[in-house]
Amino acid sequence: MLFNSLTLALLAGNALALPGNSKPSKPKGFVTTSGTKFKLDGKDFNFAGSNAYYFPFDNAPKKAGLKVFRTWGFNEKNATYIAGGLPQYGSEGAGGTEVVFQRWADGKGTIDISAFDKVVNAAANTGIKLILTLTNNWADYGGMDVYTVNVGGVYHDDFYRLAKTKSAYKKYVKAIVIRYKDKWYDEMSSFIRSHDKNHLITSGTEGGFNQVSDDWAYNGSDGGDFDAELKLKNIDFGTFHSYPDWWSKTVEWTNQWIKDHAASGRNIGKPVVHEEYGWLTPEARMTHLNRTENATRVEVISQWQAISLKEKMSDMYWQFGFSNYSYGRNNNDGFTIYLDEPEAQPLVFQHAEAMNKL
Ligand SMILES: *[C@@H]1O[C@H](CO)[C@@H](O)[C@H](O)[C@H]1NC(C)=O
Ligand SMILES: *[C@@H]1O[C@H](CO)[C@@H](O)[C@H](O)[C@H]1NC(C)=O
Ligand SMILES: *[C@@H]1O[C@H](CO)[C@@H](O)[C@H](O)[C@H]1NC(C)=O
Ligand SMILES: *[C@@H]1O[C@H](CO)[C@@H](O)[C@H](O)[C@H]1NC(C)=O
Ligand SMILES: *[C@@H]1O[C@H](CO)[C@@H](O)[C@H](O)[C@H]1NC(C)=O
Repeated sequence: MLFNSLTLALLAGNALALPGNSKPSKPKGFVTTSGTKFKLDGKDFNFAGSNAYYFPFDNAPKKAGLKVFRTWGFNEKNATYIAGGLPQYGSEGAGGTEVVFQRWADGKGTIDISAFDKVVNAAANTGIKLILTLTNNWADYGGMDVYTVNVGGVYHDDFYRLAKTKSAYKKYVKAIVIRYKDKWYDEMSSFIRSHDKNHLITSGTEGGFNQVSDDWAYNGSDGGDFDAELKLKNIDFGTFHSYPDWWSKTVEWTNQWIKDHAASGRNIGKPVVHEEYGWLTPEARMTHLNRTENATRVEVISQWQAISLKEKMSDMYWQFGFSNYSYGRNNNDGFTIYLDEPEAQPLVFQHAEAMNKL
């Protein structure tokens, strides 16, 4: 059966690798490219593989020496079957009662790819890499025409043309990409947990959300997905940082950013820590950014701390400054708050006291 379809490469075990993307900074286990070669952990990665839309859940393929499997990361269907309707599904039971990842009714697709975890986990456990196909040119297992007929398209190629089919397809692609991109955090936090049952584990991220938004800090473009990471079973608490100076954001934006993370923690039912936050001194701002801000450090940071207190959310300012080390003051990176400066009274001593009283 010829599958002329849209695919992406999925690494079993930890994450997604998009073909052609070969940054050397990829975590261990990601396949990359270098010229005409695939690479894995610094070595050429030449493979014999296979296709199996029913993914084999055992070691047989591995024993046969196969390293990469292409399998179907899609199965879209109408919620109810209309006799004679389009598309005409394949003849091998591909329209039946098997697991469906997206069901269409009333012009809307409802996505549930949770069952696909079994496939990804099976691949991870046997060390096999996956190439996922995300829909089909043909009608087996649904395919492009399911999108097209359900959003009101007429021709097969409308799939490539209509804004509605493109956005429906993007919605599905995003769901599956997001689901497996966090596998690395899941694997590493589970690894730590397997060695240590007692300590809390966190991701230590800056806190980027992955929502529909025009703001890079909220739309996944920094690679983070705060909610998905916080939901992982071995991530005990969430972290986020605030540096509006570096991020070209305003103080008001940061106030909302803090509230939004507190709200996420409440929704998911885990603690969240405002793990780094800073506002430059006027001198450092001029040096690094060649601009001024009217709001002082005490004004700005006090606002953020007041929100933390109201949200009952712990926080950790960047960074501790002490003037009486044997060598004198520690390094001032422009954010440092020295304990013997007047600003330390509200920002360190009084804030700590208020937090300790909660
Ligand atoms: C699927 O649903 C669409 C929209 O209601 C309809 O046009 C089409 O005929 C249906 N196809 C099947 C096979 O049920
Ligand atoms: C996210 O927002 C940035 C602007 O902050 C924009 O350039 C980018 O295209 C957006 N990405 C998505 C996926 O919406
Ligand atoms: C700093 O900004 C001013 C305008 O506010 C500009 O005239 C000057 O060239 C800038 N300096 C540098 C080093 O970019
Ligand atoms: C600072 O205050 C001055 C005078 O009120 C105003 O013109 C300027 O726009 C302010 N700058 C910023 C960054 O808010
Ligand atoms: C601590 O450092 C400050 C600033 O350098 C200095 O003024 C003060 O005398 C020092 N205090 C002690 C107890 O050494």
